Formats: sequence, C-alpha cells, structure tokens
Amino acid sequence: MHKVVLIPGDGIGPEVSAAAKRIIDATGVQIEWILKEAGEHVLLETGELIPESVIDAIKEYRVALKGPITTPIGRGFKSVNVTLRQQFDLYANIRPVMSYGDLTKFLGVDLVIFRENTEDLYIGKEVVISGGEVHAIKIITKKASLRIAKKAFDYALKHKRRKVTAVHKANIMKLSDGLFLECCREVAEQYPMIGYEEMIVDNMCMQLVMYPQKYDVLVTENLYGDILSDLASGLVGGLGLVPGANIGEDLAIFEAVHGSAPDIAGLSIANPIAMTLSGAMMLDYLGEPKRADAIRSAVEKTLKDKSLLTPDLGGQGSLKSITDGIIKNMILD
Ligand code: NAI
Repeated sequence: MHKVVLIPGDGIGPEVSAAAKRIIDATGVQIEWILKEAGEHVLLETGELIPESVIDAIKEYRVALKGPITTPIGRGFKSVNVTLRQQFDLYANIRPVMSYGDLTKFLGVDLVIFRENTEDLYIGKEVVISGGEVHAIKIITKKASLRIAKKAFDYALKHKRRKVTAVHKANIMKLSDGLFLECCREVAEQYPMIGYEEMIVDNMCMQLVMYPQKYDVLVTENLYGDILSDLASGLVGGLGLVPGANIGEDLAIFEAVHGSAPDIAGLSIANPIAMTLSGAMMLDYLGEPKRADAIRSAVEKTLKDKSLLTPDLGGQGSLKSITDGIIKNMILD
C-alpha cells in the first residue's frame, strides 16, 4: 500500500484533484490518500497559507499530489509552491509537453523541460535601495546547476532521447548564466551518446513557436523554465494538458503546470488531464509504470473524442465527461 498526501488546493484544485484521484484509483493501485488542506481558503480560516501539519505530512510520507494554490498578491505572502520547493529541496521541476492528435496545429511535439527549481530570482530576495530603486537578487550555484543538468541527461539516457538543449542568457548575464552553462557543458561531456546544444532564451522562444518538433529535452534555470513551460503548453493545446513533477533526493511533489484558474473555478469545466497526468508521473515514481501507462493511453484515446472534451480544448463536454471517458477507456491487464 502506497501512502500519498493529497492537497486539493484552491480554485479548480479541488475539482481536478478529485477527478485525478478517481482516475488513479480506477487503475487498481493501492493508495492510502492522506488529505491535507492548504491555500487561500485555509488562510482565511487559520491565518496560514500552508499549515505546519501539511509540511509534517509531506515530511512523513515523502510523496504528494498537489492541486494549484492561489498566491495572494501584494500582501507579503511567499508562494506556497516556491516555499515547498525550497523547503524540501525539490530541485528538479520536470514538465513533459506532448501534442495529441489534431488538438493543435503543432503536430509531433514531444518535449521535456527540466527547470531548476530552488534558486535564480525565485529566492525572493528583493532589496529596496531607495524610493525609486529596487534590486532583485539572482542566485545561480554550481551545485544546483550541476544536479539539474545531470537529472536532464540521466533522463535523456533512460528514455532514449536524442539531445539536450541548455537554455540561457549568458550573453548578458555572463557570470551567473555563464556558470550555469559551464555546468551543463561539464555534465554533457559525461554523456557523449546524447547530443548537446545551447540556445539563448529569446531565440529558444522563437524556435519553439516555429519548429517545436526539433527539440527534445530542455534544461534551464528557474525563471526561463517557468516561462518556457507556459509557452510550450500553449503549443500543444493549453495549460489543461501539461503535468509536472518536483523531485528532490527522496521526496517528490507532483502538480500540474497550471494555476488555480479562478475564472472557471466551480463551473465544472476545468480540464483534469494535467492533474491526472501528474498523477501518472507519480505512479512512475512509486514504481507503478504499467498503471501510469494505462492512464496515459486512456487520456490519449479520450482526447480523440471531441464530444467529451472541456471548452479549453474546443469541446462542449465537462470535467465529468472527460473523467468518465478516461476511466472507460482505461485498459488494465
Ligand atoms: P492559471 O494557470 O490559473 O490560468 C491561466 C488560464 O488558463 C486561465 O484562463 C485558466 O482558465 C486556464 N486554465 C488553467 N488551468 C486550466 C484547466 N485545468 N482547465 C481549463 N483551463 C485552465 O494562471 P493564473 O491565472 O496566472 O493564476 C491564478 C492563480 O494560480 C494565481 O494566484 C497564481 O499565483 C496561482 N498559480 C499557482 C500555481 C500552482 O499552485 N502550482 C501555478 C501557477 C499559478
């Protein structure tokens, strides 16, 4: 029996988490779900975005499936996501982006983005120098850069990927991005069987929009990874399709790339696929690859039936019709 902390989150979080849980349970996997609440709705009740009991549960069980959490703007709150990633040293944010059928005009996209998850501008160090001047501090270290590069190359090797592209802006940030690149080069030398190239982030954006099929595994810093993930999601049909994993040494939190989508919360039209595919990544991590593959195949099949799909995918269906469809399309040994 696996034990997994389930954090439904805010906005569409509870809806997509419940759907993902139903689908994961339908694979027959034995999971005891430890339900924990965090987010804006908890803040209103307790004054804390993420209560200590949630942190303790993650520490104890080491695996969590997490819905999106709203970050209240301008009230001095640090994002729960950033807090969790830093607290548990979840250094690798892994986001596979694939195009399915004719949902997008960008056919054949199959990218995996490795985003460094613990440093860069996301350390949240901003200093007011004077009334008209604020500095934001960007930290890049050798340790973090080497381990994210290694994670990307290990993945490429294991999954028979052809090349890794390191994305940077070292032409401007010569020291910080320069160090990141040096680390990527050092790791690339240890994997002569995997192709290696470098790309400046602005060019990468254009290349991804024009020739996304040319790219395979991308490895990059925190901020560029954040932006490139949303750009890549847009290529394949939107945020409703792209899953993610935050992986540390012996602890992992799985979550969709999307946020709490307050504009559609409670309308039963949120797309549960990103959260469900995050659950499939979790099953891989738990050593249940067959069940993970069963979910992925069922999702692929369901995406061919437009009548089931939510409005973000151009359908007239609902969260329930997609969820039921995925469960119906699941083939288990
Ligand atoms: P968002 O991802 O919530 O929404 C962007 C757009 O995509 C909206 O139009 C939304 O309706 C749509 N969308 C997102 N997920 C969808 C889904 N599953 N099905 C259908 N449509 C979907 O981004 P936004 O509006 O910038 O952020 C809202 C809140 O979420 C903010 O408070 C932000 O801080 C938080 N956030 C939390 C994240 C997390 O917990 N991992 C990640 C990103 C944002």
